Amino acid sequence: MMKSQKVELALNKQINEELFSAYMYLAMAAESDRLGLPGFTNWFKIQYSEELAHADRFFNYVLERDGIIKLESIAQPEIGGETALSLFKKALTHEQHITQCISDLKDLAKVESDHATDVFLEWFITEQVEEEANARAVIDQLRMIDGNANGLFLIDRELASRKAAPTNEQQ
Ligand code: FEO
Repeated sequence: MMKSQKVELALNKQINEELFSAYMYLAMAAESDRLGLPGFTNWFKIQYSEELAHADRFFNYVLERDGIIKLESIAQPEIGGETALSLFKKALTHEQHITQCISDLKDLAKVESDHATDVFLEWFITEQVEEEANARAVIDQLRMIDGNANGLFLIDRELASRKAAPTNEQQ
């Protein structure tokens, strides 16, 4: 058990948040396929893997601190009848929510004088800046083309080139 049970509980909750994120992006990958956008599918599938890696990072950290893992159910993602733009708008809104979760977690670690967790969360603070920026960049492009099919084709080709990030161990 970790020194602060509140922190332990919050870290477990974050594992669930990250697994839900993975699940949501997987649903978005399927929706992109339905829309005939293989590049978008590729992007969301890679994002799905990244979220699994985030969950893993929290999982490993809790175990390293002699904490107890308690896995809860993962909620059903509400994805359906989307457009390319609505998918990325949902992605951005979700990442903003995750940023808030990380920020709340960091505040809690400080209040509980859990310095190790406070430092551990630094990586996620930086990561969230990138997560929001990535979604915002695609939204900007989609707004620029304003539904133009040629433009959408080009964005899809660009998203097809996204490669999986190195795993946690390699970073
Ligand atoms: Fe795990 Fe997209 O934040």
